[in-house]
Amino acid sequence: MSSVKWLVESGCLKKVPSKYAYEKNPEDRISEDEETIPTIDYSLLTHGTPIQRFKVIQDLGNACQEWGFFMVINHGVPKKLRDEIINSTETFFNLTEEEKQEYRGNELLDPIKCGTSFNVRVDKPLMWRDYLKILVHPHFVSPHKPVGFSEVLQEYCKRSREVASELLKGISKSLELEENYITKRMEVEVGSQMFVANLYPPCPQPEIAMGLPPHSDYGLLTLLIQNHLGGLQVMHKGKWVPINPLPDSIIINIGDHMEILTNGKYKSVVHRAVVNGHGTRISIGTAHGPPLETIVSPAPELANLPPPAYRGIKFREYVELQQSSQLIGKSCLDRIRI
Ligand code: SIN
Ligand code: FE2
Repeated sequence: MSSVKWLVESGCLKKVPSKYAYEKNPEDRISEDEETIPTIDYSLLTHGTPIQRFKVIQDLGNACQEWGFFMVINHGVPKKLRDEIINSTETFFNLTEEEKQEYRGNELLDPIKCGTSFNVRVDKPLMWRDYLKILVHPHFVSPHKPVGFSEVLQEYCKRSREVASELLKGISKSLELEENYITKRMEVEVGSQMFVANLYPPCPQPEIAMGLPPHSDYGLLTLLIQNHLGGLQVMHKGKWVPINPLPDSIIINIGDHMEILTNGKYKSVVHRAVVNGHGTRISIGTAHGPPLETIVSPAPELANLPPPAYRGIKFREYVELQQSSQLIGKSCLDRIRI
């Protein structure tokens, strides 16, 4: 299956080919409110006074409960590094189709996988998106092209693990648990980290195509950065809220495994990526979770009253289930609800 990038660059498309024509839900409403996802000052979480820390932990808990999404500022991941990972990723996508073939991958959890849509085997219609996914932790791997990509990837992923791990401490505290509770229970230090780069080429009819359909993420937390173009929309109170992140911020969202672990207290929220007609959008997510063989079930401390709402499931099994299905809202999580 050729990439959307190739499709766009190889001809002068005036229309979206029918196999990409996406029928939006007629009930979709775009929010016109000023309201947007909460902002969390990361530096107060790590270096604030006890009072500032107390307040930011409360804000973090509220963000996880009310939105499932927030943006972090003052996170310490240098702009240079964020620019470098976006630029190197673009250079990777600029390799020839033949060069990228090497990374096509056959199995769902192949450590390096480059492709198009979400899952071409099941997607109908196809998504206006190309991707590169790399399982970068606990065993780091990287494509050997383009030159310098591997070094930037390794450094960016290390810095994003640090941010994720501090946020998980704050989230544990917000649940009135010991600060290392989640990282220990989920063995995050040896856990899995998936790097996912999304490339959404300019689309001749953006209103009838979709980059990524409504879905929730697997894992505990996802960190997301993007180039100068937006497209992320988050479902909140029945409407799609377009996300315009503050300059230099990182967008964070709660994944399905945080919802399972907290027995539904913190919700993994449905979101989607729409496309645009002006330019190529690149977004880079890192999904942080437990080791693939860990069984995740609601934490006993949080699943007494109410009783456990999800059955335990091996992380690998859940990821395979999600990655092999069509992305439809929280359909994967629904399959393990008790
Ligand atoms: C994603 O949901 O995985 C990516 C969203 C985006 O590209 O903004
Ligand atoms: Fe997502």
